[in-house]
Amino acid sequence: MLNLKKSNEYLKRATGLIPALSQTFSKAPYSYVKGIYPVYLKSGKGSHVFDVDNNEFIDYILALGPVTLGYAYQAVDNAISQQLKKGISFSMPHHLEVELSEEIHHLIPGADMVRFSKTGSDAVTAAVRAARAITKKDNILYCGSGGVWHDWFTVITSRSEGIPYIMKSMIRKFNYNDLESLKISFEESNDNVAAVCMEPLMLENPRDDFLQKVKKITHDNNAVLIFDEVVTGFRYAKGGAQEYLGVEGDIVAFGKGIANGMPLGAITGKEEYMKKFDEVFYSTSYGGETLSLAASLAVINEIKNKPVIEHCWNIGRALIEGFNKIASELSLDIEISGFPIRGSIVCRDENGNPSNLLKSILLQELVERGIMFGPGAVFVSYSHTKDDIENTLKSCREAMLTLKKGIENGNVSSLLKGEEMKKVMTF
Ligand SMILES: Cc1ncc(COP(=O)(O)O)c(C=O)c1O
Repeated sequence: MLNLKKSNEYLKRATGLIPALSQTFSKAPYSYVKGIYPVYLKSGKGSHVFDVDNNEFIDYILALGPVTLGYAYQAVDNAISQQLKKGISFSMPHHLEVELSEEIHHLIPGADMVRFSKTGSDAVTAAVRAARAITKKDNILYCGSGGVWHDWFTVITSRSEGIPYIMKSMIRKFNYNDLESLKISFEESNDNVAAVCMEPLMLENPRDDFLQKVKKITHDNNAVLIFDEVVTGFRYAKGGAQEYLGVEGDIVAFGKGIANGMPLGAITGKEEYMKKFDEVFYSTSYGGETLSLAASLAVINEIKNKPVIEHCWNIGRALIEGFNKIASELSLDIEISGFPIRGSIVCRDENGNPSNLLKSILLQELVERGIMFGPGAVFVSYSHTKDDIENTLKSCREAMLTLKKGIENGNVSSLLKGEEMKKVMTF
C-alpha cells in the first residue's frame, strides 16, 4: 500500500472544516477508492503528479480534463509569469481580450464573436440565458454528460436540493443518436423551447447525420442550437468537435482545455446570436483576468504550431489498444471505450453489467502501481510519452491478472482494500 501519512493528516484537518472535503465533488476522496488513493496532491510535471507524501503517478485524469499540454508546461508558465509582472486584473478591458478573441475567431468554426468566462458552467449558462433572451422562450432540451452546476441544469440531477422545483418543468433530456427522443421532447414542450443544449460528441460518433438533423429540427422549431464543447473543445481537433464533425452550433461554450488548467472558458458563435450579449446581463469582475488570457494565448500557439492534437490521438490510441488487448488476452470483460482522446474504463460483471466494484478494484491496483485513472474520463496530454504508455500497460497487465485471479477464486470482493468509488450524482 502507498504511504499516505501526510494525505491522511491533511484529511483529518479538513474534516469538519471543509464541507464535502473538496472544492470539486469529483475530486473528493469518496470519488476515488477512499483509503487507497492519495487525497492531496502537491505538484505535477508533464504527465506525472506527486502527492504530499511524495508518491509519483502517471496521470490520466488531468485535473478532470483541462491539462491538455501537461503540468508545469513551460510555454504556458512563461506566459503567465510574464503577465504576472504586469498585473492581474484591471479597471478597463485589457488588450489581451482582443488578441485572444481574434485567435479564437480564426481557430474555432463559426466563432464570429467571442466572450470569456471563468468556468465551463458559466459559459454554458450564459449561452442558455442568451438563447432564452433571443427566443423569448423558456425550455431547454439537454443531451450531455452533465457537469454544469447552475440551477437550470442541476435541477434534473439527484443533487437538486436548493433549486426551486418549478425549474424542473423547463428542462427535458433527450438521448444521443436518438432523434425520436428529441422530437418527443419538442412535442412535450408546447412550442416553448429556447434551446437544444448538447455535447456534440461524447463516447460515440454521431450516426446517420444525427447532428445535422438535430440542427434542422432545432431551427424548424425556432430554437437555438447550443453546443457544449467544454470537454471536446481544443481536444478533438484544433477547432474542437465542430471542426472534427463538420457541424456548427449557433452558440458554443468552451472551458477546460482552453487554458491548460487556468480558470477560463469562452462563448462563441454566429453574430446574429452573439450580439444578444450586448444586452443580456452576463458580466463578472474577473471576466477579463489576464493570467488566464495569457495562458490561453500560449495554449493556442502550441496547438497551432506543434502536433499537439495528433500526439494526443496517437498516444491515446496506443493506450486504448494496448489496454483492450491485455483485457481480451486475459478474457476479462474490461475495456476503455470511447475515443483515444476521451475514453472511459468499463468493467463488466458476469452478467455483462457495468460493475463499480470491479472498476474500484482495478483502479486500486493501478494507483498502487503509480498509475492514476479516475472514475470518469480517461484523458491524455501532449506530455504523455511512449514510455508512460509502456509503463502503464505493464501495470495494467499486473492489475488485471490480480482481478482475474480474484474472479476465478470467487473472492473478488475481498480484493477491495479501500471503499468503493461513489458517484457524485445521477441524472
Ligand atoms: C460537458 C461539460 N460541460 C460543462 C462542464 C462544467 O465545467 P466547469 O466544471 O468548468 O464549470 C463540465 C465539467 O465537467 C463538463 O464536463
